[in-house]
Amino acid sequence: MGKVSVSLLSSDLAHLADACNMINASKAWSIHLDIMDGVFVPNISYGFPVIEAVSRYSQKPLDAHLMTVDPSRYYKRYRDLGISWLTVHWETCPHLNRDLQEIRRLGMRSGVSINPGTPVCQLEQAVHYADLVLVMSVNPGFGGQEFIPESLNKIRDLKEMRMQKNLDFLIQVDGGINEKNASELYQYGADILVAGNYVFAAKDPLAAIEAIL
Ligand code: DX5
Ligand code: ZN
Repeated sequence: MGKVSVSLLSSDLAHLADACNMINASKAWSIHLDIMDGVFVPNISYGFPVIEAVSRYSQKPLDAHLMTVDPSRYYKRYRDLGISWLTVHWETCPHLNRDLQEIRRLGMRSGVSINPGTPVCQLEQAVHYADLVLVMSVNPGFGGQEFIPESLNKIRDLKEMRMQKNLDFLIQVDGGINEKNASELYQYGADILVAGNYVFAAKDPLAAIEAIL
């Protein structure tokens, strides 16, 4: 049994409180907030006022996935809004080790994400400072895309790296997750699956969450 983080990106944003209440009542581990700036990724999602609103309704930990350039400008602000897991992209952080340490220093758990085109080996010198590593299994920017199968080997390689280095970061996978691929992802080594479209397109979102646990 794994952990599920539900992405609000595909929820009806006009009824965010309903989505939060559904997740609160579910077996999900956390609420996943996809923050997009229209620069690093070709889409803009939501920012601080929406995070603040979600924070008021959520009874689950908030896990923010920053798809934004220059993310360190706002770490403290995310912390103050109630984010407990903060994940930055390797591709946006030239000083990644410093960023991950700063996120921890502020009292949050640190995460680092890699795009589908970025190999796991790029993380060799940074994983010591990460509580979570996020493998993107779609190119970030949009919900509802198809899972990229090569992501499976990246999960396996990360699990191997974690063992070799005797570390304990969690492996999170994000994009195109559904009831067909979830169990294989756990077998390869995923600890947390992020799901958005699959959950919110389902007739019964609570059952959909349970089906990928
Ligand atoms: C994509 C985001 C994902 C996405 C969830 O850039 O990071 O979190 O909303 O993916 P789906 O909708 O495929 O489950
Ligand atoms: Zn995400």
